[in-house]
Amino acid sequence: MKIRTSTLLELKRTGKKFSCLTSYDQQTAEIFDAAGIEVLLVGDSASNTVLANDDTISVTLDEMIPFGKAVARSARSALVVFDLPFGSYEESADQALKNSIRVMKETGAHAVKLEGPKSEQIRHLVDSGIPVMGHAGFTPQSVHALGGYKIQGKNDEAAKRLREDCLAIEEAGAFAVVLEMVPADLAAEITSELTIPTIGIGAGAGTDGQVLVWTDFAGLSGRSPSFSKSYLNLRELLTDAATRYRTEVAEGAFPTKDQSF
Ligand code: KIV
Repeated sequence: MKIRTSTLLELKRTGKKFSCLTSYDQQTAEIFDAAGIEVLLVGDSASNTVLANDDTISVTLDEMIPFGKAVARSARSALVVFDLPFGSYEESADQALKNSIRVMKETGAHAVKLEGPKSEQIRHLVDSGIPVMGHAGFTPQSVHALGGYKIQGKNDEAAKRLREDCLAIEEAGAFAVVLEMVPADLAAEITSELTIPTIGIGAGAGTDGQVLVWTDFAGLSGRSPSFSKSYLNLRELLTDAATRYRTEVAEGAFPTKDQSF
């Protein structure tokens, strides 16, 4: 079954949780899709996890387009969401539309995601037929403005602002909203206040969906945030495999006759 934005709404309506993982390439997209992960996010976290930058600010649209192509070509069922990078949508609703049209045409993604309560941009994209996922709470593209990697909505005033941001994102027409680094109680309250699904990362168990950066989820990154969970230790497994391969080559144990013509 193809997952649509309407599927996520229906899952929320019926009280069923769903999962999202980031993906930037063919293999992980095929694997996560086959495992039934409902949403694949071509996250701008590719900046840190693939391109070795220190933040998500540096990655460009040109750099991200090939990741989007690979994921959209490889997913059979999952909803593929392309994360608009910093600098590709902030200037105006027209800039957001121009770049989102490029994303939809060139990658085959099904939706775009953008950070912050950008009502004008969201409305313009939705009116033009492009589904939009919002992102509130800690928004990594604003890490410097937010004074670092900090939990958002911690006091009454900040919580009120976050609630208003989420309502603005919903009212502008977004089909879902990511809540990042938000106290669990607040994320659960926002989830019950919104009609659209919330997708949490560091936002507790009360959101409608969860999202993890796949390199954290797989234990590949080596340094995951405390709110993440590694379901395997891929870094250790790959290190071990690479060490054994190197040893076998050095000792003449690989290749054998079996691997030769
Ligand atoms: O780019 C990304 O990986 C994200 C998630 C943290 C939601 O935006």
